[in-house]
Amino acid sequence: MSLVAETTFGVESPAYVAIRWAQSVGVSLLVGTAIVRWLILPRAKRALAQRSRESAAAGVEIPAIPDDDLMRRVERLAAPLALALFVVEVARLAAQYHAVAGGDAFEVAILRALVFSSHWGGAWIATLLGAALILAATRLRVRDARWVEAVFWSALVVTAAGVASGGHAATGGWQAEALQTLHVLAAGAWIGSLAVVVLVVIPPLARLGTATAHATVAAVIAAFSPVALVAGALLLATGVSAAARALGSFDALWLSTYGRTLIVKLALLGVTAGTGAYNWRRVLPTLGTAAGSTARLRRSSAVELVAALAILVVTAVLVATPLPAELSGAVHP
Ligand code: HEM
Repeated sequence: MSLVAETTFGVESPAYVAIRWAQSVGVSLLVGTAIVRWLILPRAKRALAQRSRESAAAGVEIPAIPDDDLMRRVERLAAPLALALFVVEVARLAAQYHAVAGGDAFEVAILRALVFSSHWGGAWIATLLGAALILAATRLRVRDARWVEAVFWSALVVTAAGVASGGHAATGGWQAEALQTLHVLAAGAWIGSLAVVVLVVIPPLARLGTATAHATVAAVIAAFSPVALVAGALLLATGVSAAARALGSFDALWLSTYGRTLIVKLALLGVTAGTGAYNWRRVLPTLGTAAGSTARLRRSSAVELVAALAILVVTAVLVATPLPAELSGAVHP
């Protein structure tokens, strides 16, 4: 039974691209939530505690911000995000079914074959399972238990593997899928963490507006920067590998629609990385000292985030674009 039918709605349809974009945003935010909760905030807390010990030794008392509030605030993101991802995955199944079976009468047999007998179906089940595991982890009463954290991280890897295996990496075997899973996780570590820091952690601190609140912003950004640098390097390495495999030749970069779409992605990456470098080199050193530096950070990070969201739009188009080799008939999708 051919799973490909002549339909007007396809994987390149704007509605399907929008669903794929929502999936990437959801997964990136979930990865960012975990990184901020279990890596960035604890590091900022340790740095602030160290600072207040040093200041106390110098006879200067620095009241600490109750950072557990910040951690709880970030934790509370996970359940609605996992639920939203669930809804997106149901929409993605409907879109894929429609792309495969067209507008004809609904057939359970086609849906069963799509979900249980296709590579796409396996990837979809992995993403759904990951979202379900995250939801379960958020429902557990024992919040701070290490094993809850372990369940959360494993669920994120399963979810990212599902996303990665739903793209062109599926034609490259498990190595390509493993690299693509790293790519999706690194995207979340950089862009997802940035979004959680800028949209969830900084606003209450900026509203407080005290010297200590600004010092906490500085500690949080200082803890975020190395994460962004490592994630950025990983994104580049795994991205170049995926691009080389997908393009097949260098000139396919400008001779194919896939290649030109990738060029747009890299141009937007220039904006995101450039703003990120500006924040790291220019804004970070002024945080916690110069008045208005928190406001300056929020402005420039907003640019970084908007460009990052645009990268995910272009990526959703990229994943749906036939590979150059597919168009020349060298490989079959
Ligand atoms: C901020 C930087 C980046 C972000 C947020 C990002 C995000 C993503 C995401 C989420 C996917 C998986 C999409 C999916 O399967 O639905 C992806 C795929 C991909 N990315 Fe990136 N990426 C970034 C940088 C790069 C770079 C630097 C390159 C190349 C040098 C690259 C090349 C690719 C390729 C080739 C794919 C596979 C698309 C396909 O399935 O055909 N990415 N990216």
